[in-house]
Amino acid sequence: MSKNSEKNIQMENIVSLAKRRGFIYPGSDVYGGLSGTWDYGPLGVTLKRNIMQLWWKMFVDDREDMYGVDAAILMNQKVWQASGHVDTFVDPLCEDTVNHRRFRTDHILKDNGIDADGLTMEQMDALIEEKGIKSPDGNPLSKSRTFNMMFETHVGASTDATSVSYLRPETAQGIFTNYKNVVDNFYPDLPFGLAQQGKAFRNEISPRDFIFRSREFEQMEIEYFVNPENWEEAFDALLADTHKFLEALGLPSEKIHELEVAEADRAHYSKRTIDIEYDFPIGKEELLGIAYRTDFDLMNIQNNAGKSMEYTIKGTNTKFVPHVIEPSFGVERAVMAVLAAAYTEDEVNGEKRIVMKFPEHLAPVKYCVSPLLKNKPELVEKAREVYQILKKKHGNVLWDDNGNIGKRYRRQDEIGTPYCVVVDFDSLDNNDVTIRDRDTTEQKRVAIAEL
Ligand code: GAP
Repeated sequence: MSKNSEKNIQMENIVSLAKRRGFIYPGSDVYGGLSGTWDYGPLGVTLKRNIMQLWWKMFVDDREDMYGVDAAILMNQKVWQASGHVDTFVDPLCEDTVNHRRFRTDHILKDNGIDADGLTMEQMDALIEEKGIKSPDGNPLSKSRTFNMMFETHVGASTDATSVSYLRPETAQGIFTNYKNVVDNFYPDLPFGLAQQGKAFRNEISPRDFIFRSREFEQMEIEYFVNPENWEEAFDALLADTHKFLEALGLPSEKIHELEVAEADRAHYSKRTIDIEYDFPIGKEELLGIAYRTDFDLMNIQNNAGKSMEYTIKGTNTKFVPHVIEPSFGVERAVMAVLAAAYTEDEVNGEKRIVMKFPEHLAPVKYCVSPLLKNKPELVEKAREVYQILKKKHGNVLWDDNGNIGKRYRRQDEIGTPYCVVVDFDSLDNNDVTIRDRDTTEQKRVAIAEL
């Protein structure tokens, strides 16, 4: 089997498990779906929240220099004009000249083994012509044109140019527009950061690879405001903190790679970008990025809104517009990396099993409690007691008395429950339970009082 088809199978297994076990479903599935949208089921939403809460704890709660915000998704259209998104947030789009299906030109090149990074649209078109590349349906392709990825909408009852707004394509701008509010309210010392988590929307030409490239997704972003003299120090420190977060997600360090993004490939606002790439089952792809956005955004606001964005160093008359380091994390990509890292197939007593080896602090279910036999009321009663104790303490505790104990273990392995607690006949005499470890499958007896 080729490496590629092995990877496809691994990805398909993860997608299938995600649907079968209630992690992630295709969006609007009952109506035939809506491309590029995904819904989180009961286990997926908990996994996603655990990841987002861990990020918030590590980057906001545990630090003295970070403040949280939660800005509106709809913003004044001037935000997106000033940020450059109206003019430059575009992808190259080409069309199958026969059936009119549309594709991202760089993706067409990539699928034909050509890296389009840094190429202009004209250079991409020239390559397509020179190599005789056809659409995936075998038809000639049109010349490319730019396609703006922002979802446009109208605010209020009128639908003229003044009512245009956009579903935000990044959370970052909601941070920049609140920078002055936080400075005036909290007088933070420089450097300091503003953090935000929330939805972002991009009308991707070709959403693909499960949740990796979606049209609706979540971001976790920090704008870290610094004295321009110290930007490199802050960049390195945030990069190091990012690696600590990825370690806490349980991602193996050998699958994490830093890519120094070349000038031609950087976003228009960035003077330096490091992309963190991850060896996903679909290949080595971008997980997140850290960019040095200079004073690009605050100067844009200052110039377009006519309000000073200057920061005054406390006790001095020194004023300047701070520069910004921006670590930008995609939640869906973090979820996909965590799912891929956790997905394991092994054998227990000669039987194949699928086990999701989530780090304990991310597992959507922490404990599963069951009576050895569900038709013995005394076992059920005792097990319910244990369940209530654990539920009160840990919240994410599951009750499962379906099927035999082996089947229950397999089910819990598939959703990554670290511990299965079973009440048996000895429990009635000794006030203890067996606890089975997901990874080693070893069982030990523990007193209920010590749970
Ligand atoms: N504020 C900077 C910014 O938005 P970006 O590189 O365009 O930078 C940041 O996006 C991160 O958001 C990416 O590294 C990725 O994790 C995530 N992301 C971007 N587009 C995405 C999409 N269509 N689907 C899922 N995640 C996406």
